[in-house]
Amino acid sequence: MQKLSITGGRPLKGKLRISGAKNAALPILAGALLASEPVVVINAPQLQDVKTMIDLLASLGAQVVVEKSGNVAVNAAGLTHFHAPYELVKTMRASFLVLGPLVAKYGEATVSLPGGCAIGSRPVDQHLKGLTTLGAQVTVTEGYVKASAPQGLTGAEVHMDVVTVGGTENLMMAACLAKGRTRLHNCAQEPEITDLGNFLNKLGAQVSGHGTPTIDIDGVEQLRGCRHWVMADRVEAGTYLVAAAATRGSIHLVDVEPDKLGVVLEKLQQAGAHIDVGDDWIRLDMHGARPRAVDIETEPYPGFPTDMQAQFMALNAIAHGSSTIRENIFENRFMHVQELNRLGANIELHGHSVAKVHGLDGLLGAPVMATDLRASSSLVIAALAARGTTTIDRIYHIDRGYEAIEEKLQQLGSEVVRLN
Ligand code: EPZ
Repeated sequence: MQKLSITGGRPLKGKLRISGAKNAALPILAGALLASEPVVVINAPQLQDVKTMIDLLASLGAQVVVEKSGNVAVNAAGLTHFHAPYELVKTMRASFLVLGPLVAKYGEATVSLPGGCAIGSRPVDQHLKGLTTLGAQVTVTEGYVKASAPQGLTGAEVHMDVVTVGGTENLMMAACLAKGRTRLHNCAQEPEITDLGNFLNKLGAQVSGHGTPTIDIDGVEQLRGCRHWVMADRVEAGTYLVAAAATRGSIHLVDVEPDKLGVVLEKLQQAGAHIDVGDDWIRLDMHGARPRAVDIETEPYPGFPTDMQAQFMALNAIAHGSSTIRENIFENRFMHVQELNRLGANIELHGHSVAKVHGLDGLLGAPVMATDLRASSSLVIAALAARGTTTIDRIYHIDRGYEAIEEKLQQLGSEVVRLN
């Protein structure tokens, strides 16, 4: 199993290009199943999760080519079977996003339940409830969801009981080919949903309100192909900004969308970072100062993103002062705490959703283990700020969501090597 070896104590300095967003590329690739002509997804990040989605589309019978440029060409016209197996879905729960497109386009789909993961049980009840409201017959047997709509789906009013990113995405895509109008209520508003809606409209769908709590979709007969540039990854950008703050450095990110990072930039400024932004760039400079602790409470967008919680836990672990972090989205997203404490951090857990962090000026490198994607990025940040060398095991978690992480960190002056 591969490891990362990081020798800390050096400020991150330099310029870095941000890759395309994993959490936009994945639903967009699934949405390519709706098109009757070829689709080209541009700026998709070269990540394990994107490769898993490509493998899934190919296993369904789509022709998928990853061009030299990194663009992903998908031709999903005329699929012959509609089964997404447990072996693939269990490795990446976003595979569940093929359900809506398949049942909308072909009238049937058999997709494995994604099951839980390290950060929580992550049910899909809202996805299934919504598809049923759109007229699909949905049954769950032996760990598989079978959805069928031989006469096609019918537009309806759909009220989601929980704000769910994946549920909103699955239902948006399903409604594109339904008969009549669908109105989705209580939708997630993440920027990746806006990007998906823009992609669907390029295919000829009639989607409006994406990025707000209410989304209207007027169903159409058929969807054409298109070329779509995936938005920049706001979580990758936030992660490198926090790493620069934790190491008292100064970095310049390009090909990024600052307006999608609102609350994260505000929290970094509260922590003492000097931040300037342009249309597609962000500069952060700590002027060599130790960051100040900041309280964090995760909420659906535009609130503080749960995907940035672990990174700020690492920042607070070395910051001046104490802080409280409250995780409101997932029930088990503090797996990084015990690993951070192995580096000498002083973090107390109060139940499942509250952590009290007492900042210390100086963690010490040690062997630690990654448990989930964002937890592993928090260990990287802590290792960069710690004295001495840290080895992080099970770094396949990191490779799911951070493209070329050691090259990017080396580019910023860090001492990082991948050990086989
Ligand atoms: C997406 O996951 C992201 N993944 C996650 O990013 C992100 O943390 C999450 O949204 C929240 O922002 C992708 O976009 C591929 P949810 P998703 O459905 O869609 C509950 C990362 O690190 N819920 O918005 O699975 C659920 O249990 C990943 O990149 C139901 O109860 O998240 C959770 O508590 C991790 N019933 C809450 O809603 C449902 O039917 C939010 O989940 C669906 C969800």
